Amino acid sequence: MVTEVVKPLSAAEITELCLRHTLFDWSAQSGLKPLAIASAKGVHFQTVDGRRFIDFNSQLMCMNAGHGEPRIIEAIKRQADQLAYISPFMAHEPRALLGRKLAELLPGDIEKVFFTLSGTDANENAIKIARAVTGRSKILARYRSYHGSTGTAVLATGDPRRWANEHAGGVVHVVDPYHGMQHATDTAAVALEHLEETILLEGPETIAAFILEPVSGTNGILIPPDGYLEGVRKLCDRNGILLICDEVMTGFGRTGRWFAVDHWGVVPDLITMAKGLTSSYVPLGAVGMRPQVASHFDDNVFYGGLTYNSHPLGCAAALATIRVYEEDDMVGNSRRLGAVLANHHRRLQERHPCVGAVRSIGLFGALELVRDRRTMEPLAPFNGTSPEMKAVSQALLDEGLYTFVRWNTIMTNPPLCITAGELDEGFEILDQALEIGDRAVAS
Ligand SMILES: Cc1ncc(COP(=O)(O)O)c(C=O)c1O
Repeated sequence: MVTEVVKPLSAAEITELCLRHTLFDWSAQSGLKPLAIASAKGVHFQTVDGRRFIDFNSQLMCMNAGHGEPRIIEAIKRQADQLAYISPFMAHEPRALLGRKLAELLPGDIEKVFFTLSGTDANENAIKIARAVTGRSKILARYRSYHGSTGTAVLATGDPRRWANEHAGGVVHVVDPYHGMQHATDTAAVALEHLEETILLEGPETIAAFILEPVSGTNGILIPPDGYLEGVRKLCDRNGILLICDEVMTGFGRTGRWFAVDHWGVVPDLITMAKGLTSSYVPLGAVGMRPQVASHFDDNVFYGGLTYNSHPLGCAAALATIRVYEEDDMVGNSRRLGAVLANHHRRLQERHPCVGAVRSIGLFGALELVRDRRTMEPLAPFNGTSPEMKAVSQALLDEGLYTFVRWNTIMTNPPLCITAGELDEGFEILDQALEIGDRAVAS
């Protein structure tokens, strides 16, 4: 027997081949320098050339259970041996058990789900369902939002990622309670007045749904004022508009509760999820719906389908992930360590003049950097960057901290299994890097 010895690729070879033959997200490709990653465990990952990083963003706010979790990996292996794929027209045990488990965890009376592959197609299908159920076509969404990169999900996205993808209409945007650090944040009452006026001017009978992230993610961890979500629920009810809560990022413990809406006791008509559902070990998304939505399809055809709806590997991975969250009380850990994270935020704001604002809920946090504490001028403009933000970002990487740096914002969203000691490790690196920002602050 001839055994072929395959020499592993070097870091440079991996990077070069990936750049030459594959397209990277949201970037002009020339000048990209992606890290070549070899392995990951817990809250750390390692590059092929041996550098070690603490993961302060759970990759794309999705690796909630932490890297290399053996209980999830084992479940995927077992399922692959048993039944790797079967048509979505068939029933199977992981689909049955996951459906039942989600009905138990999801808010209120939501007890039926449609499984998808990701967050964006969960939102596509939630919008499709809302249009079918109401017979209306228009969708309301907020400007400071991200709902995915495809079709209507990217049209619903309010932030600048929509601009280059805007080839059709059907979505109307409303302003958020938050208007940037240089302006006051609206009270719930004022924000609801704006929303009500928009609904009136657009024609309530034309609006199928209002889609929103209960706590906006990539747009800066924007936590609504108390009373806002409850008021949105009432406005939607009064106008026959379905409420879609996009919990793709906030679901599964990120904010210290299973779902962010649980903080305010609001039950949406449709709820979308992905990311933390499987902790991203296998792609899986879902749309959950209340009985009055689901029952529409008892006698009307659901004009939707995906080859990978209810994929056995995805369902098995999700069941194992949820079991890990429960066995290790990761939702509780997110709440408890969220308090520790908030203390670190406060300390950084006291120590560093460049830290203009800090926000967090559970292990979902962000710092906003400024040039001037009095005017609150951001250290990078809306939809832009600056040499100072680039330098802070580079310093974090150089010292072994990976996180998401966008415009003037630095995210702090570690895996939900993080310990207080590991939080100290990450914040120590942030503390040092922020000195670069301080030097840019007007004295
Ligand atoms: C709130 C929200 N919705 C939807 C999406 C899209 O999810 P996906 O990238 O899995 O399509 C994201 C992704 O970051 C998100 O944060």
